[in-house]
Amino acid sequence: MKIGTKVNIILMIVFIGGILISGTVFSSVLEQKAQNEVKDKGLILIQIANSVRQYTNDRVQPLLLPKVETQDQFIPESIPSYSVREVFENLRKNPEYSDFIYKDATLDPTNLRDKADAFEADLVQRFRKEPKLETLYGFRNISGEKLFYSARPLKITEQSCLQCHSSPELAPKSQLLAYGKKNGFGWKLNDIVTSQIVYVPAEEIFTSSNRSFLLVIGVLTIIFTAIVFVMNRLLTKTVLQRIKKISMVAEQVSVGDMNADFGKQAKDEIGGLAEAFNRMKYSLEIALNMLNNK
Ligand code: HEC
Repeated sequence: MKIGTKVNIILMIVFIGGILISGTVFSSVLEQKAQNEVKDKGLILIQIANSVRQYTNDRVQPLLLPKVETQDQFIPESIPSYSVREVFENLRKNPEYSDFIYKDATLDPTNLRDKADAFEADLVQRFRKEPKLETLYGFRNISGEKLFYSARPLKITEQSCLQCHSSPELAPKSQLLAYGKKNGFGWKLNDIVTSQIVYVPAEEIFTSSNRSFLLVIGVLTIIFTAIVFVMNRLLTKTVLQRIKKISMVAEQVSVGDMNADFGKQAKDEIGGLAEAFNRMKYSLEIALNMLNNK
């Protein structure tokens, strides 16, 4: 096998190994990065939801509560959770957020659409057990679709909440008419009743990390190809071509052509070889002359 081919095979093995190893490392780093980005986005959305909640609680509810308490018609606009849901629906009209889902996953909710499923109930329980835990995130499947979730606990910190969430006797009549007496009561101060969750299709994470992955692999391939090309040129110019020339001249000398010349060579290993051959040629010439003159 020719030296050039051997070197190319070795370079190729190094190249493919390098791509495989760096590919695995990069893909896990990139996926982690994409996960963190989506998680952070989810957590920011939850913080914004909480600001909307606060605003409705502090500014809107005081204005509407007198009506809620005296009329039969319940006004959901007075409820923080309701405004969060509506604001989120508006956000989802933005294509960048159309895949995002927000849920106030609650163990015993006023509105049954907020009922935590088994998975979400586990998150609430974990937040209850570990009061220092501020966020949870990861993957889950809902009816065959893989989703990424970011979750935070929601704690009842204000006495005012309990008017509507502790006992049906205290709640406005219009609320009971609209939501019934059965659920959404019995909450206590400092209780974690809800996990606020933002869901994003897992695809979002994988497409974003795949895109970066392809980019990195593309750049690496270009760099490696350039290295292989330069190495090949270098090998041909500094080694292979010169060895070929020396071997041609040696061939000529071996069949008696003493005019064949190894030429001027650079002062490196191959230059040394050419010089040694040159000396051998002269010795041969002298020896032949001595033989002929006898
Ligand atoms: C005037 C009554 C009232 C007050 C005061 C009130 N809520 Fe509610 N809350 C409701 C109603 C009604 C709903 C259901 C709204 C809907 O249709 O989504 C609700 C929904 C919720 C939900 C979503 C889960 C569920 O039960 O459906 C959470 C969480 C919640 N409230 C927390 C709070 C907190 C925290 C406070 C105090 C800062 C508070 N609420 C104050 C009436 C009230």
